[in-house]
Amino acid sequence: MNLFSYVFCLLLLFLSTQYLLFLLKRTRFSQKQLPPGPFPLPVIGNVLNHITNPHRSFAEIAKVYGPVMTVQLGYLTTVVISSATMARQVLQKQDLSFSTRNPWSAVSVLDHHESSIAFLPPNHQWTNLRKICKSFIFSNCRLDASGGLRRRVVQQLISHVQNHCAAGSAVEIRDAVLTALLNLITNTFFSFDLAKYGGSENQLKELVSAMVAEAGTLSGADFFPMIGAFDPQGIRRRSTIIMRKIFSLFNSIIDERLMSRKNSVSSEKNDDVLDAILSISRGKDKEFDISAIPHLLLDLFVAGTDTTSTTFEWAMTELIRNPEKLEKARAELRHIIGNGNLDKEEDIAQLPYLQAVVKETLRLHPAVAFLIPRKVSMDVHISGYTVPKGAQVLVNVWAMGREESVWEAANSFIPERFMESNIDVKGGNFELLPFGAGRRICLGMPLANRMVPYMLGSLIHSFNWKLEDGIVHMNMDDKFGFTVMKALPLRAIPFPSC
Ligand code: HEM
Repeated sequence: MNLFSYVFCLLLLFLSTQYLLFLLKRTRFSQKQLPPGPFPLPVIGNVLNHITNPHRSFAEIAKVYGPVMTVQLGYLTTVVISSATMARQVLQKQDLSFSTRNPWSAVSVLDHHESSIAFLPPNHQWTNLRKICKSFIFSNCRLDASGGLRRRVVQQLISHVQNHCAAGSAVEIRDAVLTALLNLITNTFFSFDLAKYGGSENQLKELVSAMVAEAGTLSGADFFPMIGAFDPQGIRRRSTIIMRKIFSLFNSIIDERLMSRKNSVSSEKNDDVLDAILSISRGKDKEFDISAIPHLLLDLFVAGTDTTSTTFEWAMTELIRNPEKLEKARAELRHIIGNGNLDKEEDIAQLPYLQAVVKETLRLHPAVAFLIPRKVSMDVHISGYTVPKGAQVLVNVWAMGREESVWEAANSFIPERFMESNIDVKGGNFELLPFGAGRRICLGMPLANRMVPYMLGSLIHSFNWKLEDGIVHMNMDDKFGFTVMKALPLRAIPFPSC
């Protein structure tokens, strides 16, 4: 037997054993009444049908298999939820059983998932982190107090757009908004800007974008654990390098601050989140370990920037594509604000159409199509089926927002549908869950709900917008990743508002 035949026989033996094991496991599961789903191929399961844009392909097959279905992604049994009734079961009625995360390759390097607010199981450490973030950043009273900071960040964004307006050149919307958001978060934590507009060298922006890209790449290692150690796509290797650089940047800022706290008199203290958490990490209760700060910062940068800039880009895209809706939103702003700037966030409360535009954007284009994947750590029963221990659970909020039986003209952008309705996005209406629901609901939702309408209102009130010359049709293709973003970035030209 030559070497080739020998290797071939070994491979065949390996695959047959794996398939037998798989069939055995499936028979065991079928006695437990797994939710229905497409029949899986040996070893690879259904993975090949769902590599690109799984939010769309899962929505399609849910029409056949129903709102709770099983899809076999290699070795990872995945249960996909696609209706409001089933989402209520998972996120409200049996919330605790479904609240553990399923951290994937890119986010578990350097043991990030063991300190991460987004990936820790719902234990004491996680509760403590959420409590700290709420009380120092996201409570209504903290957000009211930091309104001036957001005003300044939005003013910088307007100045950047103003330069393009004067030059008649296009703004790359997602990139501009990303810069604004990075500066909002760095100012909240450190009291200074770290990101710059334009093409100048921008270490933090590049690192965060690179981390988001790695976190959004489907990794074969997550579906086929036996190849995980080889890191075939290089995701773990690249994520480790990026995360190390981000941590080193944050650690140098923390060290500098510790030094200046040591040397300064108490009246010179910065009144920012870093100071507050450094104080509690030094307090006698040791509520917070200083080594957890870089992990927390990483989560807030990654979870807060890409989601918000993607949502903003879709809102601008839909408005430019539907000029009559854009004009209606601008007319409302003119009527309420007059010719001045939208400089107070509180004015948003008087702009119901602008708020409806944001809700409609979140319905059609929820940034995080499946929420952040959950996992069950024991068998859980739902609607007569068993979700087996270790299964990953995805809630397809993208499909639920386009469900024809719930939403009239589900694929059209019609903000008016929210004008006479009490449905909101805060986790109580299970047909509309862009921020998730239950105990793992998005931590930054109160900030996003202020920031998105404020930036959108400011940019459409201060400027009018058109596509670049020669572009007649807006390309609406989307691309699945950490967020479902527009495949071709929106570039639009601002011109003076009359
Ligand atoms: C439009 C903007 C945003 C959208 C659409 C969004 C969406 C989401 C979604 C769907 C989840 C998962 C919820 C679940 O599993 O039930 C999530 C979690 C999270 N979000 Fe957001 N988010 C946005 C903005 C933000 C901002 C601005 C921040 C912070 C600066 C943030 C921080 C987080 C964190 C830390 C988590 C993890 C919470 C946990 O696991 O306990 N998000 N977000």
